[in-house]
Amino acid sequence: MKRFYITTPIYYVNDVPHLGHAYTTVAADVLARYQRRNGREVFFLTGTDEHGQKAEQAAKKVGEPVQEYVNRHAKVFQDLWPKLNITNDDFIRTTEPRHTAKVQLALQTLKGRGLIYAADYEGWYCVPDERFWTEKDLKDGNCPDCGRKVDQIREKNYFFKMGQYRDRLLEEIKSGKLEISPDSRKNEVLGFLGKELGDLCISRPKSRLPWGIELPFDREYVAYVWFDALMNYATAVGYGADEKKFAQIWPPDVQLVGKDILTTHCVYWTTMLMALELPLPKKIFAHGWWTVEGKKMSKSLGNVVAPGTAVEAVGSDQFRYFILREVPFGLDGDFSAAALVSRINVDLANNLGNLVSRVLSMVEKYRNSVVPNPLATTGGSIQQWINQHKNSLLMSTKAESLNYRNNIENLAFSKALETTIKLCDEANRFIVENAPWTLAKNEADKEKLDDVLYAAAEAVRVIGVMFAPFMPDAAKRLAQKLSLADIGTLEWGGLKPGTTVSAGEALFPRIDENKAKEIEAMLTPKTGEATAGHATPAAPVVPLAPEITIDEFMKIDLRTAKVLHAEPVPKSSKLLKLKVDLGFEQRQVVAGIAQHYKPEEIIGKNVVMVANLKPATLMGVESHGMLLAANDEGRLVLCGTWETVQGGIKVK
Ligand code: MSP
Repeated sequence: MKRFYITTPIYYVNDVPHLGHAYTTVAADVLARYQRRNGREVFFLTGTDEHGQKAEQAAKKVGEPVQEYVNRHAKVFQDLWPKLNITNDDFIRTTEPRHTAKVQLALQTLKGRGLIYAADYEGWYCVPDERFWTEKDLKDGNCPDCGRKVDQIREKNYFFKMGQYRDRLLEEIKSGKLEISPDSRKNEVLGFLGKELGDLCISRPKSRLPWGIELPFDREYVAYVWFDALMNYATAVGYGADEKKFAQIWPPDVQLVGKDILTTHCVYWTTMLMALELPLPKKIFAHGWWTVEGKKMSKSLGNVVAPGTAVEAVGSDQFRYFILREVPFGLDGDFSAAALVSRINVDLANNLGNLVSRVLSMVEKYRNSVVPNPLATTGGSIQQWINQHKNSLLMSTKAESLNYRNNIENLAFSKALETTIKLCDEANRFIVENAPWTLAKNEADKEKLDDVLYAAAEAVRVIGVMFAPFMPDAAKRLAQKLSLADIGTLEWGGLKPGTTVSAGEALFPRIDENKAKEIEAMLTPKTGEATAGHATPAAPVVPLAPEITIDEFMKIDLRTAKVLHAEPVPKSSKLLKLKVDLGFEQRQVVAGIAQHYKPEEIIGKNVVMVANLKPATLMGVESHGMLLAANDEGRLVLCGTWETVQGGIKVK
């Protein structure tokens, strides 16, 4: 039988693993575990995306050969996943020969079919996204995807004839053969395809970017990093190398992606597959994005949630539970240590954990730890009682199991967990209604008590089956308490009468206030500590300059200034010529910010400048001062005053 094939995006190695990466990977893992429990053979793939400008620039910045840099960073991801109990069947790296050789095969195949051509390209290029845009794509002159500035570029490149697949792609999506979920994302893709679909530039000249897979038909070029990266889903499972394996696994059943990489997957990838004459994935699901305490997660804000730290702080099961329970899969969500602690205490310690202890302690107490026999469901004087009492839990377990199945198969993870917690509530209610402690007082109620205890213990087992894909360690601990090798299936009756059980330690310890504070301190560190103490590659820190005295500092005359005019310096890609107002005079200043600001973006801005710097001539233009700017990993951000002040005011 064909394997159930699940993929995550492959992660860029210039970043350290964060909550967003863990989110997709844990979701894929839950699905993989669920399918395996259902008896399906699964192939679950994740990996790292190691080519392109981002990796190259990041390596350059730390002065390391790129291959060494990506090796080191890929390992951080590889080492992290076991800590989160991820059961991927393979881990693909795009610098591996098994990948690079077959990307070249795909390129050659398309070239051979006349689907790749060379042309001069003139357009706008977004460096962080590594994507070209046409003039009309731009939003306020910036990248429509990430909002950052774009550079104008003209060069020869190779193009994939993507545009010709538009109608077929529309048909595949509309007919549901290619399922894009949630619906809002499907509509987004349909909207994108409503406009004309252009061809896709799939090359980069080596002169500009040497770090990539060489085009087999032109050694001066490397493959566009997205063409290279998307092919991982095929190269990892034997495309062009192992036909038997490929046939067993292809096509993907579910491809999980974040909402930001919807177009690359639903349009570039699917049309690439059409051109390669390969079946399309069955489903592409785009999930939402996490913010952290209301703010975008970013290295510069120092609020990056490191999954390894989260596991250390609360445990892998608890973290996995939280990220999939807290936010409906597909929507955006907000992470906070307080919400994490509260979920663990309310759902896991109080509800689920207490139910397990309560039920197993009663079996210990009233039946000497041995699971009793349920009542026969036919005949007998207490049939009516059976109908009213025992069946109530059996029926609700059946109903909730069905809901659970539907939810998890539709990737509604939070609903699947909600259902699980609902069943805990129902089991608790069942116990209160049947009051085993009262039944225990009367010998005539012995069979009733047996029956109630059996139903409650079996419901606990089924609850364990439901949370097993999410919290595999806890499911194992529960199985041990029930003397089972494995927690079993959703079918009622898995727990055999005569089995010895033990309540033992609480399944999930409650987090007290002190511990909660500790967790908060670990997860919401101050800037710079975000990933400290973790297997993350050290960020390059610019060492502090030697101390100076206040007198030395006062020699620098810093002044406020207003930018009156800005224009590019001819023949320079980096410099802008500015006229600034210092109140008492106007000055010409040359600033190396052309790659970070367009002239019109800075006119009118209130900046701070060094006003007593010796004049200098840059590219033939005189400069009388220097603007202050923060260098955020190569991105220059001008410094100004928070509130508007006159030009020429002293800054100290
Ligand atoms: N390398 C590409 C994917 C290539 S797939 C052939 C890439 N890598 S990434 O590392 O930048 O992002 C990987 C995934 O992380 C994306 O699915 C993205 O949506 C997800 N996330 C990044 N930040 C996120 C949040 N803050 N929240 C949730 N997921 C986010 O894109």
